[in-house]
Amino acid sequence: MNETPLWASESFWKKTAIWVTAGSFIILVVLTFDSLSQTSAGSKRVPAYSVINKKIDYQYKDDLHKSVPVIGDTELLFGKEFTEMEAEQLVMLGKKTTQAKNCMNCHTLLGNGAYYAPDLTKAWLDKGWVSKEMREDLMVQFLMNPEKNARTFGSNRKMPDLNITEEEAKGVVAFLKWMSSIDTNGFPYNFKTINAEE
Ligand code: HEC
Repeated sequence: MNETPLWASESFWKKTAIWVTAGSFIILVVLTFDSLSQTSAGSKRVPAYSVINKKIDYQYKDDLHKSVPVIGDTELLFGKEFTEMEAEQLVMLGKKTTQAKNCMNCHTLLGNGAYYAPDLTKAWLDKGWVSKEMREDLMVQFLMNPEKNARTFGSNRKMPDLNITEEEAKGVVAFLKWMSSIDTNGFPYNFKTINAEE
C-alpha cells in the first residue's frame, strides 16, 4: 500500500487553488456591487443631489455616541429650487473643480487628502461662515478670492488664489453642501455646526 494521501497529492492542491481563487473572485464582485450601492447618491447614507434644496445639520446623538446628519425642511441654495438633474449638474461641476484644482493637495475630503488645511467634509456647516444668511455668498467670495478673504483661524496659513470662476465657486458650494449631508459614521468627531447654539 503505497498510495499518496489526499492532502499530499498535487491534483488536490491544484483544485483547491482554483476553488479558492474562483470563490474570492465572486466575493470581490459581490462586495464591489455592495459598496457601489452604498456609496452612490440616493442611497441610505448618501442622499440624492437634490438634498442641496434642504436644510442640513450635523447633530450629536447621545445614544449613538456620534454625530449624524439631520436633513430638514426646504432651505434653498442661491434662491433656487433645483431639480434632481440640475442639482447633479451643479454638484458635479463642483466635484470636477475640486479635482481639477487639486484641493486635496492641502485639504481632506471625507478624511482623504492632505493635512495642511481644514477638512472640508462639513465645511458647509462651519461656524466660520458667520450666519446662515450670509454663508453661501461668503463661501463664493472666499473661493473666488481666498487671499483677500482669508480668515486663517490663527494658523497664519492662507489659501492661494486658484482662479475659480463664479460658476465654479457656486458648484463647489453645492458640492460642499451635498457632502455635508453624507452619513460619515461620526466623522469628523465633535464638530460644532453653524446651527449650534452657544
Ligand atoms: C495650497 C493649499 C490649498 C489648496 C490647494 C486649497 N486650499 Fe482651501 N484652504 C487652505 C487654507 C490654508 C485654508 C484656511 C485659511 C482660511 O480659511 O483663510 C483654506 C480654507 C478653505 C475653506 C474654508 C474651510 C472652512 O471650514 O471654513 C474652504 C471651503 C476651502 N479652503 C475650499 C477649498 C477648495 C474647494 C479648494 C480647491 C478648489 C481648495 N480649498 C484648495 C489651503 C488650500
